[in-house]
Amino acid sequence: MLITADDVQKVILAYKRYSNYHFDDYSEKSFTRRVEKILIDYKLDIDGFVLKIKNDKDFMEQSVKDITVNTTELFRDPKIWQSIKYRVLPRYEEQENINIWHAGCSTGQEVYSMMILLHEMNLLDKANIYASDLNNDVLEVAKKGEYKYRFNMDYLENYNQVIKINPYNFDEYKDVPFDKYFDVDKTKDLMKAKNFLKQKPLFRRQDLVKQENVFYTKFDLILCRNVLIYFNYELQNRTLDFFHSMLFNKGSLILGVHESMLGPVAAKYIKKGVYYLKK
Ligand SMILES: C[S@@+](CC[C@H](N)C(=O)[O-])C[C@H]1O[C@@H](n2cnc3c(N)ncnc32)[C@H](O)[C@@H]1O
Repeated sequence: MLITADDVQKVILAYKRYSNYHFDDYSEKSFTRRVEKILIDYKLDIDGFVLKIKNDKDFMEQSVKDITVNTTELFRDPKIWQSIKYRVLPRYEEQENINIWHAGCSTGQEVYSMMILLHEMNLLDKANIYASDLNNDVLEVAKKGEYKYRFNMDYLENYNQVIKINPYNFDEYKDVPFDKYFDVDKTKDLMKAKNFLKQKPLFRRQDLVKQENVFYTKFDLILCRNVLIYFNYELQNRTLDFFHSMLFNKGSLILGVHESMLGPVAAKYIKKGVYYLKK
């Protein structure tokens, strides 16, 4: 179903009036595509959609989830994690503490990946892990740390690539069993993060549109991966500027593999391979 720019504005206005969500500065193209899909999936026209946003809170929340795309993985893009392991975290290993913020953490796989990696590097104890998302439901899943097993067999392959292999020296193979970090229950088709991991992060709801520092601290490392692609150019720049103000001197920012910095804010960072260093 194709919709017009006016239809899109009606939907954005409805969220603004009847909820706490502001989509003005989301990428028009992807927002429109998502709304079109919702209209098809729920068999609605634009006016019906607007009415449901107004009158049906559960539908409204679900539609926000449909719009904001929660796809994620354990050790998503393993090559990036190899660089985090060998290029990024060593920058901070001599510090007393390492503050790490996952902005747009979705259901938490990125957060567990980081904690596993830190644990293997003997850095978990000195790390403070903060994680946020716009969406409360995904945060609840993240806190629980339970994921489908069979559906996510890719996770094991990613884990092996990052945790067991040193791409710079294949002799350094480290056979770390997956069950050091997850209890796998094949009959229930579940993998559950171990308690020592689950207890570590501080999860909070945070809307990057509003740019509030919900953790009342600054960070050595911010990961905001596969979130900015859903924002327009202005909001991307604002968010990158916000991250700049949230980083300690010499702090680093990691974006998704398909995301980069354009515009004036790029002058505030130095690109170093997979990460951006605060100037
Ligand atoms: C595709 S997931 C990325 C998850 C993870 N960072 C990764 O790369 O695998 C995008 C996440 O961004 C969140 N998000 C979208 N808009 C946001 C906003 N304005 N503020 C905070 N999080 C937002 C969504 O709820 C979703 O969980």
